[in-house]
Amino acid sequence: MDRLVIDGGVALHGHVAVSGAKNAALPCLAAVLLSSEAVTLRHLPAVSDIRTMVKVLQALGCSAEVEKDEDGFELVVTLRADDLESHGLQAPYELVKTMRASILVLGPLLARFGRASVSLPGGCAIGARPVNMHLEALERMGAVIAIDKGYVEAHVPAGKLHGIDHTFDKVSVGATENLMMAATLATGTTVLRNAAQEPEIADLAHLLVGMGARIEGIDSPVLTIHGVAALHGCDHAVIPDRIEAGTFLCAVAAAGGDVVLDRVIPDHLRSLIDLLERLGCAFTERQGQDGMQLRIQREPNQRLRAKDVATSPYPGFPTDLQAQVMAVLTQASGISVIKETIFENRFQHAMELERLGANLRIEGHTAIVAGPSPLKGCTVMATDLRASATLVIAGLVAEGQTTVDRIYHLDRGYAGLERKLQSLGARIQRQGGGSV
Ligand code: UD1
Repeated sequence: MDRLVIDGGVALHGHVAVSGAKNAALPCLAAVLLSSEAVTLRHLPAVSDIRTMVKVLQALGCSAEVEKDEDGFELVVTLRADDLESHGLQAPYELVKTMRASILVLGPLLARFGRASVSLPGGCAIGARPVNMHLEALERMGAVIAIDKGYVEAHVPAGKLHGIDHTFDKVSVGATENLMMAATLATGTTVLRNAAQEPEIADLAHLLVGMGARIEGIDSPVLTIHGVAALHGCDHAVIPDRIEAGTFLCAVAAAGGDVVLDRVIPDHLRSLIDLLERLGCAFTERQGQDGMQLRIQREPNQRLRAKDVATSPYPGFPTDLQAQVMAVLTQASGISVIKETIFENRFQHAMELERLGANLRIEGHTAIVAGPSPLKGCTVMATDLRASATLVIAGLVAEGQTTVDRIYHLDRGYAGLERKLQSLGARIQRQGGGSV
């Protein structure tokens, strides 16, 4: 099993290019099922979750051509979903269990074929992650759904889903995506209210519009989708990964340095930039050759100020950056309170940070961080994707050597993180021989 070995205490300097967004790429891959024509997706990050989703699509009968870029950080994938029914329209447990986002194939399959069988994703390290809101809304659109032997067995007696006016009980990224995709091929108009507004949803909507879908209200909490008879192929570049970008910003904030992120959308990172500015980091934005550039500066000996933060749906502070920010706040002077409002069990990194010397207390959904704490390297274990990133950040700060075990979690969502950090001067090595 691969691990990362980090010799900490080095500030980061240089340029790093942000890869395409995993969480935009996954629904875009599922959207390919809505058309029998070829769809090309560019800037997909070369991470294991993307490979898993491509395997799900291949298991469903899609043909796939995958090309890697020079650095091996990004992929161009061309998929064609023109021979699906002979493969049984089933997304198998072996693949779905490794990645919950596989449930995103349900909406497109039901919309185009009127039936689907998708394994229920099962448990998750960061808390219960039900799909009840996906299923309830699809039922309202005319699907009949049963859970049988661990599978969601769904069919549409009328042949086609029909439009609905639906208010989600709570904001869900996945449910918004699944329903938006389903509605593109439904009869009539669907209005989705209390829809999630994450940038990845707008990216999916832009892909769907490129495929011929009629969607109004993109970037707002009310999406109106007028169903069309069929969608066609297209060529789409996914947006830069705001969580990868945010992870680099947290690494610089914690370890110090002066780094420019290339191909980033600063507007997608406002809540983090705002927080890190109040902590004491300096930011500059400018137009670069390949999109916007974002520069972050923090002198290694400059004290950071403590600050409270609470996660919430976009444009609030992302739960996917909560763990990384905790590592930063261990270096801030004073008491910071972190409130996790999206997932119930998302502080597993806290105990590992404590092993490195952080001064923390967890009370329910709240973490209290007292800083600054001098961190000292030791062996720590990654428990989930973003928790792994936090341990890497803490390792960059810690005196001596930190070994982060079980980094297969990290490889699910970061393309070549250690190689990108090496290019910024970090002393970090992968051991174990695997590669992403
Ligand atoms: C997506 C992201 C994930 C991020 C999360 C929240 C992808 C592939 N993953 O996950 O990285 O952490 O958004 O920003 O894009 N819920 C229900 N019933 C449902 C669906 C969700 O109760 O049917 C709850 C969840 O348990 C959670 C909350 O709603 O408490 C938000 O989850 P959701 O936005 O759906 O997360 P995902 O789409 O799974």
